Amino acid sequence: MKRKVLVTGGLGFIGSHTVVCLNEAGYEPVIIDNLNNSRLEVLDALETLVGYRPTFEQIDVLDSEKLNALIQREGVEAVIHFAAHKAVGESVEKPLMYYRNNVCGLIFLLEVLKANGLNNLVFSSSCTVYGEPKEIPVREGTETQPAASPYGATKQMGEVILRDNSWCNVQCLRYFNPVGAHESALIGELPLGVPNNLIPFLTQTVAGIRKQLTVYGGDYDTADGTCIRDYIHVMDLAEAHVASIDRLFAKANGTITHYGKEGVLGFDNSTDNFEIFNIGTGNGFSVLEVIHAFERVNGEKIPHVIGDRRAGDVVAVWADTKKVNEVLGWKAKRDLDTMMRDAWNWQKRC
Ligand code: UD1
Repeated sequence: MKRKVLVTGGLGFIGSHTVVCLNEAGYEPVIIDNLNNSRLEVLDALETLVGYRPTFEQIDVLDSEKLNALIQREGVEAVIHFAAHKAVGESVEKPLMYYRNNVCGLIFLLEVLKANGLNNLVFSSSCTVYGEPKEIPVREGTETQPAASPYGATKQMGEVILRDNSWCNVQCLRYFNPVGAHESALIGELPLGVPNNLIPFLTQTVAGIRKQLTVYGGDYDTADGTCIRDYIHVMDLAEAHVASIDRLFAKANGTITHYGKEGVLGFDNSTDNFEIFNIGTGNGFSVLEVIHAFERVNGEKIPHVIGDRRAGDVVAVWADTKKVNEVLGWKAKRDLDTMMRDAWNWQKRC
């Protein structure tokens, strides 16, 4: 019998790719999604990709009754919690919506898990918790900074809540900048409205949906004056979730012990039951480097101008991946060119 893994927000960008990888790894994904920022057609695409229609219910994580019934019926053994709002600007305008969905949603989910004796959870955190980092690359132990937005605050609060609930075994994954799409181009990122993030705006510009891309700031203290980020292919990120699920089950079986006993990787906020991992490639690329890579790989010109800095942007951040490589045994495999190729192939199908 395949072990069942509940994927909240499983029809979203990262969730849908993770469903594919879970299936490949021999797990059976059980999806819930409130379709707030995703579409039911993603389920059709997933059916094509995995060869059967995955179990799906339209449930909001705040609906404890329905969630409880589903967990009991399906007998899930672990949960990956993606269901959350993720737009920085929107969170400034609608903070209550963010705290309710991201913080209350997590608390409600934990209550249902606890009531069912379910204690294996992977949590979507973000490199946003590092703010303008004190050191680069950032380690899991690099000091976090006060949140720059309600969105960032919800991720920090989520980490605190999970660390305090030590009955639950948590893998806390701090994502860097997820981009790209499944190589089939059957699933990818579906931003509603005008995209805030670089890659969807860039691909929509090349597709003619947007007139031109504005590079936010050309006078930063970097080699070409533009900001640097650690872009990671969404399939690599999805595979990191499978590695985390493997690890949770291995820990539950007693096959592996906790991180503290495995290696001397420096202090961070992890405990036996709350392990933090940076999920990035370890490479930083500037906005202009991304643009040039896209143009070279896809043979397309990107109309762009250098504009003002965007409020809240950090200058440069990329991951130290030593801990995740050694302890989780996961490493990103796909390079920037692959990210750009797959992002464009997906856009062309949209
Ligand atoms: C933001 C969040 C991050 C979140 C991620 C995905 C912060 C500090 N960062 O990352 O937590 O996980 O979104 O939702 O909260 N850029 C342009 N022009 C554009 C768009 C972006 O030049 O039209 C630049 C930005 O200035 C930045 C880079 O591209 O340097 C990446 O921006 P973006 O894709 O929005 O991601 P982050 O802001 O890094």
